[in-house]
Amino acid sequence: MNDVPDRARRRSRSAVRLLLGGACALAVTVSSMAVATFARADLSDPPGTTLKAAAERSGRYFGAAMGGDRLTDQGFLTIANREFDMMTAVNEMKPDATEPNPGQFDFRAGDAIYNWATQHGMRVRGHTLAWHAQQPRFWGSLSGSALRQAMIDHINGVMAHYRGKLAYWDVVNEAFAENGSRRSSNLQSTGNDWIEVAFRTARAADPSVKLCYNDYNIENWTYAKTQGVYNMIKDFKARGVPVDCVGLQTHFTGGSSLPSNFQTTLSSFAALGVDVALTEADVTNASTSQYQGLTQACVNVPRCVGVTTWGIRDSDSWRGNENPLLFDRNSNPKAAYGAVRDALNAASTTVPGTTAPPTTAPPTTTPPTTVPPTTTPPTTPPATGQPGTCTATYRMVNSWSGGFQGEVTVTNNGSTTLTGWTVRLTLAGGQTVANVWNGVNTGTSGTVGVRNADYNGSLGANASTTFGFLVNGSSNAAPGGLSCTSP
Ligand code: G3I
Repeated sequence: MNDVPDRARRRSRSAVRLLLGGACALAVTVSSMAVATFARADLSDPPGTTLKAAAERSGRYFGAAMGGDRLTDQGFLTIANREFDMMTAVNEMKPDATEPNPGQFDFRAGDAIYNWATQHGMRVRGHTLAWHAQQPRFWGSLSGSALRQAMIDHINGVMAHYRGKLAYWDVVNEAFAENGSRRSSNLQSTGNDWIEVAFRTARAADPSVKLCYNDYNIENWTYAKTQGVYNMIKDFKARGVPVDCVGLQTHFTGGSSLPSNFQTTLSSFAALGVDVALTEADVTNASTSQYQGLTQACVNVPRCVGVTTWGIRDSDSWRGNENPLLFDRNSNPKAAYGAVRDALNAASTTVPGTTAPPTTAPPTTTPPTTVPPTTTPPTTPPATGQPGTCTATYRMVNSWSGGFQGEVTVTNNGSTTLTGWTVRLTLAGGQTVANVWNGVNTGTSGTVGVRNADYNGSLGANASTTFGFLVNGSSNAAPGGLSCTSP
């Protein structure tokens, strides 16, 4: 029974497609792929009566984590189906689970969770590809370039299997120490660039999924570890390393409770041009004020895309003796549940890209999860706008039958900083823009304008930024007539 107002749009179903991730792979049949709900923000909607309905009003999601053992737990499944619209596998998509032996992939456990979640209208966060813990046993006997290659092969193998199906991937998990330096680990010992290599590999393996860095104890803005991660993301964005989001695990214990500057942390990361998400929330004794506060901080930051709790009932929790979740062992919602739902319903900001007029298949801010491309995208000659101000260069990122994903790079060719830019492009007949991210569009067909988002309008001399978009239509003809003006 699902009493959520039916604002969720289902993406198109497509033929079964099983991508084997390596020399051999074991996989449960993925009976339907790219089936997902996503929110279309409308703050004038009535208050949601469930967590997901309350979150969807502002274009956000409300997620949970589940282990494979919960697939036969009707109590769990009933609440999951009623309240949540995003799912994370607790252990089943981790490296030791998905590649037990070199090149031998096993997706059965991960697929079982993926299938259940998507068949119940949820999206899925992938967790995780590279981590110092829960590694395949054979990584333990590798080091240096051999371990680096094993990590790259692992990312390629797992992401090939889930290509086009997931909303987010935690590409790298928990790579920092409490003092803000890199955590020492076998992966770190392969060279300081291991994290950016992981992200670049991930982007090439699946350009449609958002790539996240995920960690704990990075909620307090003034904490050394938070600053360490912040500086890495800032550096990555400056050097074009593909990172799309930061996951803050948000495990609050007696010793590390909700910091008063949590919203500052979220907005500071977001200002770097990444999404932020609360990915593993749980709070000692389910403190109502802390749950209210962490949710409030998220809904106050436009690029905070959602909250996930690490389990649903206290009996699901890795910290079960602390009773840290929103539902008790008898499946009853706690006071914190109401506080979280109220805070979601009171959101005054929406997630960028979720308020555009409905089209045939609009995702949130996530690039496509329809059929992954099977052909090499055609390249299109660069198009330029006014010399001396800014130029716009188009490239096709992905294409599939019935649509494509494009990207425009906006470059400031002048010697002074630009404050704001607008790109115009003309779509071929029958083409419609379904979604734009990192920009705000005017119009969806014919000549379409895209202006900068709040966070990427300022471009220093010779600096550039990109925005992306999805187009539905019978042809994949490249947009014509590109121009860029500033402001
Ligand atoms: O499956 C075996 C079982 O066969 C065996 O009998 C049993 C004996 O201890 O172990 C079982 O495996 C355990 C596994 O969970 C499944 O229950 C592992 O020992 C145990 O270490 C593992 O713990 C997981 C932990 O990550 C490992 O680091 C937790 O379930 C999982 O909730 C937790 O999740 C992490 C996130 O990935 C990252 N952030 C922190 C979060 C909580 O620790």
